[in-house]
Amino acid sequence: MRPLIAGNWKMNTLRSEATALVAGLMEQRAERDPGCDMLVCPPFVTLRPVAEVIEGSPIALGAQDCHAEGSGAHTGDISAAMLADAGCKCVIVGHSERRADHRESDSLVVSKAIVAHENDLTAVICVGETLAQRESEETLSIVETQVSQSVPDGATAENTVVAYEPVWAIGTGLTPTIDQISEVHDYMRALLVARFPDRAEFRLLYGGSMNPGNAREILAVDNVNGGLVGGASLKVEDFWAICTSV
Ligand code: 13P
Repeated sequence: MRPLIAGNWKMNTLRSEATALVAGLMEQRAERDPGCDMLVCPPFVTLRPVAEVIEGSPIALGAQDCHAEGSGAHTGDISAAMLADAGCKCVIVGHSERRADHRESDSLVVSKAIVAHENDLTAVICVGETLAQRESEETLSIVETQVSQSVPDGATAENTVVAYEPVWAIGTGLTPTIDQISEVHDYMRALLVARFPDRAEFRLLYGGSMNPGNAREILAVDNVNGGLVGGASLKVEDFWAICTSV
């Protein structure tokens, strides 16, 4: 399974910064294949400028969210069809920042994944526990609930990627131990194998304070098939170093 390294730029980069960032990545990528698929997820308004720069290159474009419905009276929202039309191949759904900031539930997240699939977008579905949940030993049950309720029945290895992002590891510089990452990823794999016995080759990403210093060890864990990178995806050298760590 070819790993996927995805950059979630979150609410960062103005147009000139976004195009410079992706142009820098393309220069590296033109020199060699790092051995992984590369995905960048800029903010909505920079999708088109970035799409124009990466056109024809092996770097794929994704968005950070979509609305759960196909179209209509939803002021300020963006549909999956618009994302596909803008050149996206993927969309992140259920990121913990959206679950927290916008009170997104598993039932909303699964609807977003379904509408993404209907528009030929790969859904990168995020799950993960808070620090309080980790400390009260609820990690596996939280992950089980989120995976079973946020991943739609129509999921396949082609249209779905699942990202484990412990909330307490995001943007904090803290990461779980390798054993903790391994435990959750093995558990997610087992859940998916049980539910989709004939198509469980989903890529499972780890996300949360991944950086050039810890990427190699994390990406070597069984059932870690790539990374979802926040802060370190905003610098060409750091994101490229993570890509070449696979
Ligand atoms: P950081 O890499 O900044 O911790 O963010 C991870 C993340 O939330 C990616 O979606």
